[in-house]
Amino acid sequence: MSVQSEIRRITAPDILARKGGEPIVCLTSYHAHTARIADQYCDVILVGDSLGMVMHGLETTVPVTLDMMILQGHAVMRGSKRALVVVDMPFGSYEASKEQAFMNAARVLKETTCGAIKLEGGRRMAETIAFMVERGIPVMAHIGLTPQSINTIGSFRAQGREEADWAAIEADALAVAQAGAFSVVIEAVAEPLARKLTQAVSIPTIGIGASPACDGQVLVMEDMLGLSPRVPKFVKRFGDLGPGIEKAIASYAAEVRARTFPGPEHVYPMKGKKA
Ligand code: KIV
Repeated sequence: MSVQSEIRRITAPDILARKGGEPIVCLTSYHAHTARIADQYCDVILVGDSLGMVMHGLETTVPVTLDMMILQGHAVMRGSKRALVVVDMPFGSYEASKEQAFMNAARVLKETTCGAIKLEGGRRMAETIAFMVERGIPVMAHIGLTPQSINTIGSFRAQGREEADWAAIEADALAVAQAGAFSVVIEAVAEPLARKLTQAVSIPTIGIGASPACDGQVLVMEDMLGLSPRVPKFVKRFGDLGPGIEKAIASYAAEVRARTFPGPEHVYPMKGKKA
């Protein structure tokens, strides 16, 4: 009997082959249960380091650790069967050298069994990307706004606002594609630049706040569900779960305080008299 799962997971080469084709649907997830739902509709599930802000209430992604990413990567792999699961490399786990990047990414792949990793940076990471890809690690790159650089860039602003800045961003896109990344996330750039980048590179571009001109889109699940307290302006809300959750918790609290919540009898009919 085969020990392989009957459902074949989407792979990094499958995503690469989607360049210019059917749009690539990608969403973040950090939990088994949300991954189970996303798996039915998404090609790629990203275990983003945005979990630092979304799950842990941190101000930035900078404090996120490799252990945090591995723990949630495990959960998402357990919850999903079909989507390619990509785990973000957190700040400080890959920038020092290509060897550091390889060792930490190999640990992520071994311990979570995910299919690829993502890291931030364009030209400056190209040598590292090539080193990792040559050694068996599929890499999704991330250019444009790179949130892990918040302490040097100063704010989470759209990138390429002046046409004079476009050439540098295009050079980043070309460098990561040339290095062997199987796709590139492009964050917070306007449509004309997103279109130019998408036409310039041979790998799929996955936009976040980067218009439908990209080959696909990724959003942070809690942002599009209306669960995050602070959401980037470009995010369209597809749900408004925050108020629904608050209403449910308020009714629960009121029932507990009034002792009007049901006992187990509605599930397990009791024989004999009530005490
Ligand atoms: O961490 C994350 O969720 C991401 C996406 C915003 C692309 O990197």
